[in-house]
Amino acid sequence: MATVRPSALRCGLAALLCVSWTLPVAAQCEIPPLALAWTNTTVTSDGLGVTRGIEMGIGTPNQIFALRPYTALNNTRVNNVADCDSTSNDTCVGGEGGVFNSQNSPSYSVSIKGNWNGSQVDTEDSTGSYVYFNDRVSFQSAASVYGFPVVMDSEPQGGSFSGLPIGTNSSFLRAAVHGGVAPSQVVGLWAGSRSLTPVDGLMVLGGYDAARVNGNFTSFPVADASAALPCPLQVNITGLFFAGQSLLGDSQAMTACIEPYVQRFVFTPAVAQTFAQITAQNASLYKGMDYNASNTPPGDLTITLSNGYTTNITNDELFTLRRGSDQYGRYAITNNSVVEAGISDNRAKSPASQTPTLGGLFLTFNYLVMDYENNEFRLALAVASDVQTGSSLTTVCTPTATPSASPSPTPAPPWVFSAALLAYPYADSRADPQTTQPR
Ligand SMILES: *[C@@H]1O[C@H](CO)[C@@H](O)[C@H](O)[C@H]1NC(C)=O
Ligand SMILES: *[C@@H]1O[C@H](CO)[C@@H](O)[C@H](O)[C@H]1NC(C)=O
Ligand SMILES: *[C@@H]1O[C@H](CO)[C@@H](O)[C@H](O)[C@H]1NC(C)=O
Ligand SMILES: *[C@@H]1O[C@H](CO)[C@@H](O)[C@H](O)[C@H]1NC(C)=O
Ligand SMILES: *[C@@H]1O[C@H](CO)[C@@H](O)[C@H](O)[C@H]1NC(C)=O
Ligand SMILES: *[C@@H]1O[C@H](CO)[C@@H](O)[C@H](O)[C@H]1NC(C)=O
Ligand SMILES: *[C@@H]1O[C@H](CO)[C@@H](O)[C@H](O)[C@H]1NC(C)=O
Ligand SMILES: *[C@@H]1O[C@H](CO)[C@@H](O)[C@H](O)[C@H]1NC(C)=O
Ligand SMILES: *[C@@H]1O[C@H](CO)[C@@H](O)[C@H](O)[C@H]1NC(C)=O
Ligand SMILES: *[C@@H]1O[C@H](CO)[C@@H](O)[C@H](O)[C@H]1NC(C)=O
Ligand SMILES: *[C@@H]1O[C@H](CO)[C@@H](O)[C@H](O)[C@H]1NC(C)=O
Repeated sequence: MATVRPSALRCGLAALLCVSWTLPVAAQCEIPPLALAWTNTTVTSDGLGVTRGIEMGIGTPNQIFALRPYTALNNTRVNNVADCDSTSNDTCVGGEGGVFNSQNSPSYSVSIKGNWNGSQVDTEDSTGSYVYFNDRVSFQSAASVYGFPVVMDSEPQGGSFSGLPIGTNSSFLRAAVHGGVAPSQVVGLWAGSRSLTPVDGLMVLGGYDAARVNGNFTSFPVADASAALPCPLQVNITGLFFAGQSLLGDSQAMTACIEPYVQRFVFTPAVAQTFAQITAQNASLYKGMDYNASNTPPGDLTITLSNGYTTNITNDELFTLRRGSDQYGRYAITNNSVVEAGISDNRAKSPASQTPTLGGLFLTFNYLVMDYENNEFRLALAVASDVQTGSSLTTVCTPTATPSASPSPTPAPPWVFSAALLAYPYADSRADPQTTQPR
C-alpha cells in the first residue's frame, strides 16, 4: 500500500479520459482506480433479459455481458451465441449473462492457443469447445481496451460458466493495468445485497471503496497449490453458530473458499444437516433449504475465522422469499409463501464432492481486497447494505521504476484496450451447479 489516495468515483472515471494507456509504469499509480458496478444489466437485444453482474461490452459494436467475478478463472470467459438456440431466447441469454456472436464483431480476432496473450489456460471442460480471441472490451460508461484476452466457451447444453477472472494470474487484471485503465491489479470488492431490497455491489480495480469499509482490515495469506482446497482465498472457520447454537459439532474447523462467483454458503453436508435440524426444516413439505414463509426460523448466522475475525449474517439477508429464473432469465420471486435459506442444501451429497464456500452472501457483510502481488487478501466488516454510502475510491498501488511499452504518438480513444478471445477444446472441473445459482 505505497500510495493511498482517495478520489471521487466520478472524478476517477472522468479522469480516465485524459490518461493515455501508453504512460510508463512509473506513472501508473497516478491513474485513478476503476469502479465497476455489480448491478442489473440488460443482456438481450429486446431489453428484457436482465442479469446481475459486472457489465462488460465485448466487440465492435459492443455485445453486453454481465459477469460474476470468479477466482477459478485467469481469463475472461463468455458463452457462445450457439449455446442458446436463438438470441431471442431471453431465458437462455439472460441466464448465461449474455452470449457472444463473433460474426457481429469485425474487430474480433481469433488466436491459436499457443500464440494467444491471455494467461496460461484455465482448466477446460471435456464437453466444451473453446475459442481464444482478442477483441475490444469496454467497461460500463468509461474505459475500453483493445487487445483484451477473452475465452469463448461453447457447450452443448449452454455453458453458464462465464465469468470475470480474479484468479492469481488474471489476464483481465493484467490487461486493465497494461491498457492504462487501472493503477494496479489490486481488486476491492463489495457484493452488494441480494436481499428482497437489493443493493448494487461495486468492484474496484486498483484500489477499494473506503466508504463501504467499516473498521480495520485483517490480512490473510493467499493459499498456494499445497493448500487443502483449490482456491486462492482460503480461510479456516473455527466457529459457526445459528441463533447461538453450534453447527460445527465435533469437527473443530472447516476450511472454506471465499468465492464471489457462488452466491450462497456451501458448508459440509454434516453442517447442513445440523442447520436443518436446528431450524426444523421439514423435508417432506419443502424441498431444498426451504421453509414456510410464516414461520421463518429466527436468528442470525455467526462465522468466526481461525484468527478471531467474526461476521454476523443477519436473518433478513439469510432468509429470503423463494426466488428463481423467470421467463426472461431474471432472478425473481417464484413463490411468496416459501422462504429459502442462503445455505446450499447438500445434505444428500457426499462430503468429498463439496467445497465449503463463503459466497456473495458473505461478501454482503465483508469487504474483500485481493492483493496477489503482496500474496495476501484482506477482509474488513462492510458498512451495512441498508446504509447509503457514496463511494470513496482509494488507490492501492506500488510504484515501480520499470518503463512500459514505448509511448504511442496517436492518443486515439484514450483507454481502448482490446481483448484476445481463444477457442479450443479442453476439460475442466466445472463449478458444482448446485453451488451456483441464477444470477
Ligand atoms: C430457451 O432456453 C431455455 C434454456 O436454455 C430452454 O430450456 C428453452 O427450451 C429455450 N426456448 C426456446 C423457445 O428455444
Ligand atoms: C501468468 O501467465 C502468463 C501468461 O500465460 C505467464 O507467462 C506467467 O508465467 C504466469 N505467471 C505465473 C506466476 O504463473
Ligand atoms: C491461474 O494462474 C495461477 C498462476 O499461474 C495458477 O497457479 C492457477 O492454477 C491458475 N488458475 C487456474 C484456474 O487455472
Ligand atoms: C494481445 O494481443 C492483441 C492482439 O494481437 C493486442 O492488440 C494486444 O495489445 C495484446 N495485449 C497485450 C497485453 O500484449
Ligand atoms: C483499527 O486500528 C487502529 C490502530 O491499530 C486502532 O487504534 C483502532 O482501534 C482499530 N479500530 C477498530 C474498529 O478495531
Ligand atoms: C487451516 O488449518 C489447517 C490445519 O490446522 C492448516 O494446515 C491450514 O494452513 C489452515 N489454513 C488457513 C487458510 O489458515
Ligand atoms: C412435516 O410436516 C408434516 C405435515 O405437516 C408433518 O406430519 C411432519 O411431522 C413434519 N415433519 C417434521 C420433521 O417436522
Ligand atoms: C404456513 O404456516 C401458516 C401459519 O402457521 C399456516 O397457516 C399455513 O398453512 C402453512 N403453510 C403450509 C403450506 O404449511
Ligand atoms: C455478532 O453478534 C453477536 C451476538 O449477537 C455479538 O455479540 C457480536 O458483537 C456481533 N459481532 C459483530 C461483528 O457484529
Ligand atoms: C434487479 O432486478 C431484479 C429482477 O430481476 C429486481 O428484483 C431487483 O430489484 C433489481 N435490483 C436493483 C438493485 O434494482
Ligand atoms: C409454493 O410452495 C408451496 C409449498 O411447497 C406450494 O404448496 C405452493 O403450491 C407453491 N405456490 C406456487 C405458486 O408455486
